[in-house]
Amino acid sequence: SEVMLQQTQIATVIPYYRRFLHSFPTVKALAEAPLEKVLQLWSGLGYYRRARNLHGAACLVAERFKGRFPSDYGEARSLPGVGDYTARAILSIAYKQPYAVLDGNVARVVARLRGYRGNLHQTGFRQAVERDLELMLSRRSPGSFNQALMELGQTVCLTRAPRCTVCPLRRWCRALRSGRPESYPVPRPRRAIETHHLAVGIIRRGNKVAMARGLDQDLLGDLWNFPAAFGKSSAEALSHLQDKLQALLSGETSCGECLCRLRHGITFRAIRVEAYPVGISGRRLTGSLRWFPLFCLPHAAVSQLARKIAAQL
Ligand code: ADE
Repeated sequence: SEVMLQQTQIATVIPYYRRFLHSFPTVKALAEAPLEKVLQLWSGLGYYRRARNLHGAACLVAERFKGRFPSDYGEARSLPGVGDYTARAILSIAYKQPYAVLDGNVARVVARLRGYRGNLHQTGFRQAVERDLELMLSRRSPGSFNQALMELGQTVCLTRAPRCTVCPLRRWCRALRSGRPESYPVPRPRRAIETHHLAVGIIRRGNKVAMARGLDQDLLGDLWNFPAAFGKSSAEALSHLQDKLQALLSGETSCGECLCRLRHGITFRAIRVEAYPVGISGRRLTGSLRWFPLFCLPHAAVSQLARKIAAQL
């Protein structure tokens, strides 16, 4: 759950978490599962490197630590995908070790409580918050302390409309005393949304479609996608797609009229997608292309974008 929660909201994580534990109830079950199955269960959660790392970590825990997650900080950090935050969260919650965790929610609670300006991307701010947390941390129940602060940040000490009247820390809160609690911490400038065009090639034979690993430009590298190419305009994307198909299929291909248009978001990219039918005149698939029966798409390690396109088609 800590790995799933690294970049994803709790409400989104819950159904994935349940399905995941149903399929992989133990570290051993996860370690023995094919990566493909893990990616399939992760499909829709995003940031797929987390799934790959979690699977790799399960293999190491099974082999090196006899199936038990290590209780030593250094050993925990040696596992793929276990960074400082995750190691602290797991060791404090699972093993009651005195590690304080610092995520965006906790930073907001402490910034308001202590009246700190700035944000987590500034070293001075981070150090001040870490020092305070170290002093405040409950040595008896570090896991409950950490989860209480995270949850306070998620449910009461909200970014835009903090619910100060029901806050158990209101008596000590400097930001509340200042009269403008919502102005702490200072937000960091957001990365601007970029618009991209994506041309997608639909190669179909009967009830099968051709798919390739990865989308384009190193995006969604772990998942199956319709062959696709980005461009600054839809014409440029189509031209890149034709180049890519030529390389993938080692020969000329023909793209027909646009079949469907849709929009899709991946982190800071707003993507305008256009799908084109591609004729390969009886040729065999080569390179990284594989045939997928349409009925398999919902159960395969296929990207959400590909599912969206398939649904629209
Ligand atoms: N966010 C990430 N991990 C969490 C946890 N253990 N409790 C509450 N919120 C969280």
